[in-house]
Amino acid sequence: MKKKGIFITFEGPEGSGKTTQIQAAAVYLKKRGVPVLLLREPGGTTVGEACRAIVLEARHKHMSPRAELLLYLAARAQIVDEKILPALAKGTWVLCDRFEDSTRAYQGYGRGLDKKMIDAGSLIARGKLQPDLTILLDIPPRLAFKRIGRRDRMEKAPLAFHERVRRGFLDLAHRYPRRFKVVDAALSKEALALKIFSELEKQIAGRKGSHGL
Ligand code: TMP
Repeated sequence: MKKKGIFITFEGPEGSGKTTQIQAAAVYLKKRGVPVLLLREPGGTTVGEACRAIVLEARHKHMSPRAELLLYLAARAQIVDEKILPALAKGTWVLCDRFEDSTRAYQGYGRGLDKKMIDAGSLIARGKLQPDLTILLDIPPRLAFKRIGRRDRMEKAPLAFHERVRRGFLDLAHRYPRRFKVVDAALSKEALALKIFSELEKQIAGRKGSHGL
């Protein structure tokens, strides 16, 4: 399937306001006449939501990090085949709340799983698909958890784990500066949204003509 739409991912720790911002971004793009599909990971499909329920269940305290990795990858393989690739082939822009960078940050930097093993699994899950743009909402975990508390199995991991995850995201942004845009999630909701909209405008300007906008 040939990719005609744009694939944009939103990444960042829990409590960064990612979900509110991605929803605002979808509304903004629709108003600008862009066909949009909003998805979340893990989830977005029946199979993916089932994986999500297993992996986030707080009672599953003793889940092996490799089992955790495989559940996230299974959810990804399903959403890529069932939702993302068909939408991109139609020219729809796909906004996804988390994608592969979350796996690198959480299972790699956070859990300490081998990077090569994660990359090999990732290739099975996403094939050649890569985001065109990744918006990273950066925030210190201490501040983020003050906003939302700790509810699910991942949020209940120690603060040091979440500090490593944050460092992981920032390392990835440093390594792929053309794909990543880092925004300060401690800003007000409105200020943050304006920064994100200006990134979306750049994508629209870049694609004018080629996507019938
Ligand atoms: P959410 O709270 O943003 O919906 O994300 C669900 C949780 O799953 C969050 O704690 C991050 C975690 N996660 C991973 O650990 N690895 C992954 O690959 C993905 C997509 C999410």
